[in-house]
Amino acid sequence: MSRAAVLAGIGACLPPRLVTNAELAARLDSSDEWVRSRTGIAQRYMADSSVLTSDLAVGAGSRALKSSGHPHVDAVVVATTTPDRPCPATAPTVAGKLGLGHAAAFDVSAVCSGFLYGLASAAGLIAGGIAERVLVIGAETFSRILNPADRSTSVIFGDGAGAAVLRAGSSTEEGALGPFDLGSDGEGVDLITVPAGGPPPEGGWPDPVPDDYYFTMQGKRVFWLAVQRMGQSAQMVLDRAGWRVDEVDHLVAHQANHRITRRLADEIGLPRERAVSNIAEVGNTAAASIPLALVHAHAAGTLRPGDRVLLTAFGGGLTWGATTLIWPAVDPS
Ligand code: UT7
Repeated sequence: MSRAAVLAGIGACLPPRLVTNAELAARLDSSDEWVRSRTGIAQRYMADSSVLTSDLAVGAGSRALKSSGHPHVDAVVVATTTPDRPCPATAPTVAGKLGLGHAAAFDVSAVCSGFLYGLASAAGLIAGGIAERVLVIGAETFSRILNPADRSTSVIFGDGAGAAVLRAGSSTEEGALGPFDLGSDGEGVDLITVPAGGPPPEGGWPDPVPDDYYFTMQGKRVFWLAVQRMGQSAQMVLDRAGWRVDEVDHLVAHQANHRITRRLADEIGLPRERAVSNIAEVGNTAAASIPLALVHAHAAGTLRPGDRVLLTAFGGGLTWGATTLIWPAVDPS
């Protein structure tokens, strides 16, 4: 038994504007049928221009704090690809808006693996005795960096935020985060990238917006790398945790594409029905995708106390990671 980070609360926040495939297909050379069959996505939520990533993060964070039953944390970690500004980080703004006093606050930039990297950072702060309670938030206004003329990315991504409170506890408790695996491969830096620019400054981007300011992804190559890297990372933490794959009740993988999640389940030898999926409702929300999937699966009664959960993600960088936990009794947020 050793000191470990234990999941104590969860929360989510989606912007109100629902965007269907049909709405996007009306302005792109696409169709509801193509998007559903190639990605599993039926709709996503998008933030209006007045809504910042920090606003969604505060919504998810306040619910996670409420769910944890404790209003304070010692540190706030925000995982995001779409910070409010290039500098400073978004986390101090979020901590301030949440009334968290002088809590430590920093961002993690690992694109779609960001929430897992954030969990690992928080677990390290707790294991090292630097913090007793940490709020980890994955938050994105990804629609801001999408090229409206690029049908291959515009139909995939959505906005939203999900959060988790971790507290210091024991490694044998339900909710204790298990072993982590994290990795990167800088040779793939150009496969998922925003080469220039940054989030829009006040007053907006230059008109017309240079293409380099937008997000680009080489989807086909990323697809297979995602399956391969998440599969290896998942297997690594299962081995370290001493879990057999058939003991895993739920796979909660980054929600990039339902075909990726199914292939990943096949790759590690898990029945496909044990893979949690909420991509139909929210699309790919990058750093927010794992906590949003956890909140939705918890609310649906899919995740029950005592269930063995395997988390894994893959994203730009390239980056990837995985961890395990036994689902604890968590209050609804
Ligand atoms: O979140 C971070 C990690 N991200 C991922 O893991 C995403 C990984 N990649 C993917 O999910 C898939 O590769 C995509 C969903 C991005 C694309 O699906 P795909 O089955 O790999 O399609 P493709 O890129 O091979 O394109 C097939 C065809 C092409 O047309 P041609 O060349 O065969 O005539 C595309 O131009 O589909 C076309 N296409 C579309 N058609 C209608 C691409 N996007 C669209 C679209 N609507 N929105």
